[in-house]
Amino acid sequence: MKKLLRFITCGNVDDGKSTLIGHLLYESKLLFADQEKALELDSKVGSRGGEIDYALLLDGLLAEREQGITIDVAYRYFTTDERSFIVADTPGHEEYTRNMAVGASFAELAILLVDATKGITVQTKRHARICALMGIRHIVVAVNKMDLVNFEQQRFEAIKRDFLTLATTLDFSTIQVIPVSATNGDNIITASAATPWYEELALLPYLEAINVEEDALATFTLPIQRVSRPNQDFRGFQGQIESGRIAVGDEIIALPSNERAIVKQILVTDRTEQEAVAGQPVTVQLSKEVDVSRGCVLTTDTTLTTAQKFTAHVLVLDTEPLVIGKNYLCKIGTQTIAGVITAITHKINIENGDLVAAESLQKNELAECTIALAEPVIMSTFNTHHTLGSFILIDRLTHMTAACGVIQNLEQTTSIFAQQTTVTAAIREAQKQQRALTLWFTGLSGAGKSTLANEVEKRLVLLGHHTMLLDGDNLRLGLNKNLAFDEASRSENNRRIAEVAKLLNEAGLITLAACISPLEQDRKQAQNIIGEAYIEIFISTPLTTCESRDTKGLYAKARQQEIEAFTGISSPYETPKKPHIIVDTTSLSIEQATDKIMRALASYL
Ligand code: ADX
Repeated sequence: MKKLLRFITCGNVDDGKSTLIGHLLYESKLLFADQEKALELDSKVGSRGGEIDYALLLDGLLAEREQGITIDVAYRYFTTDERSFIVADTPGHEEYTRNMAVGASFAELAILLVDATKGITVQTKRHARICALMGIRHIVVAVNKMDLVNFEQQRFEAIKRDFLTLATTLDFSTIQVIPVSATNGDNIITASAATPWYEELALLPYLEAINVEEDALATFTLPIQRVSRPNQDFRGFQGQIESGRIAVGDEIIALPSNERAIVKQILVTDRTEQEAVAGQPVTVQLSKEVDVSRGCVLTTDTTLTTAQKFTAHVLVLDTEPLVIGKNYLCKIGTQTIAGVITAITHKINIENGDLVAAESLQKNELAECTIALAEPVIMSTFNTHHTLGSFILIDRLTHMTAACGVIQNLEQTTSIFAQQTTVTAAIREAQKQQRALTLWFTGLSGAGKSTLANEVEKRLVLLGHHTMLLDGDNLRLGLNKNLAFDEASRSENNRRIAEVAKLLNEAGLITLAACISPLEQDRKQAQNIIGEAYIEIFISTPLTTCESRDTKGLYAKARQQEIEAFTGISSPYETPKKPHIIVDTTSLSIEQATDKIMRALASYL
């Protein structure tokens, strides 16, 4: 049996996407004679004069013919002597991220259309990014309209270079860039004489030849949809084989029970077969009784496991925003289970790949989230198993599909156990004869955080305390040197500082942390991590004072837009809601300000 290739095409409205698919369908002799005639007739009124307008082949997309925009995902099936294909034609219009992602979640390969006259556009980057996020590993870049640039090799090479540069940040395993003309047919089916400098395969032969089967995908998995028991003697497990092949006599593992059994009989529809492969709906009978019901999986993959928590790339489909803590139904493979989003790591800006902090997610937004389920279920990362690695979230009240997603990582809740230590945090504190605290200095750059933290530490040491100072700037030279200043990076910066402060507290030390920590949610997170030991000291010196001091010259640079996202200028600072101590250094000497903090601290030490 020919291996099926599922692919999508993505491109701008007039990049020639429909024409390209039309051409593939036409050449693969899928068309019946009368359809061909109809096409010729249609072309008389089509956009290409007397010639066949291949775009008209996509007859399902009426709206596109009327408006010039494809608005739904249309699936086409076609076959050649070498291979069978399903193509999802997805819209190129800006608003239709959703349809594109839905198409992408089904496909193994994507053809990105690039107009040779325009090169790589924002839209191309956007599409490439969605493909990567939705787990597509194989990319073909069809540089179309080569006829309009006189089949110039230099033009093609420049576009190819641009794309390969973009792709360095994305996780693709193969990339093929092909110069084509969808309307004239150059390099679509056979190598074009117009591009003698392109010595690789034309589009269709490339699609016929490419191997998209990852090693892991080759292992047999069958998510069970139904248990069929027509009579006492027969118990068959039904479902569609997701990956790999199975033959009578093979040993399989039934998950989650982990029982092993031998395949006794395979039925494909109502025919008995010796073996079956991915994509086929089967009924499997086993050599002995095993505990299998809907939602279970039969597999030969010994690494497949259950998990209760995972991180995923999620795309919001519903107009209702997706929120942390709300209860959804999560459908993975054939299993449906209650689940909540426990954290949004960050939103992903589809235009430029920036990671942005978020509390909730709106329609069409993409994000990395952590999801916790009511019970462990069989799942996998999307890269290993498509069906067991992708899911949808369903709103429990409206039954609307709230989001779809692909699993990035499983958190094996059972694989990490908190270890008790004999020497406890309390013993370490007692040994140092002090109460471990974290003094969290927050405020604008230039407010006086580092200076005051330094002075307070000196005083504490003079009083006989054991301390450690964590200065934001210093940490950014080491532990946090891979972080920038966008919201997500600052959040991670503050999280790491809080975790380190907590460890130092467990060592019995008084920790002084001086970092801008501009957002309330990040300071709250720090407080949650550190617990009761957290004392927030807000250095409330106003922006005007900080800017006039400008000790590091950074405000001047920020005003000149030489520094991006500078706190107070081009990035927000949220005033702390309930700090333990507030000090404005505008009209206090360093000594006076230190005195003030030490007095306020007395009751905590
Ligand atoms: S935080 O916002 O993530 O808490 P942190 O305290 O670690 O910031 O680092 C702030 C220091 O980085 C500032 O004192 C300044 O010297 C430097 N810096 C460089 N770029 C920026 C920026 N865009 N915004 C704020 N500080 C910056």
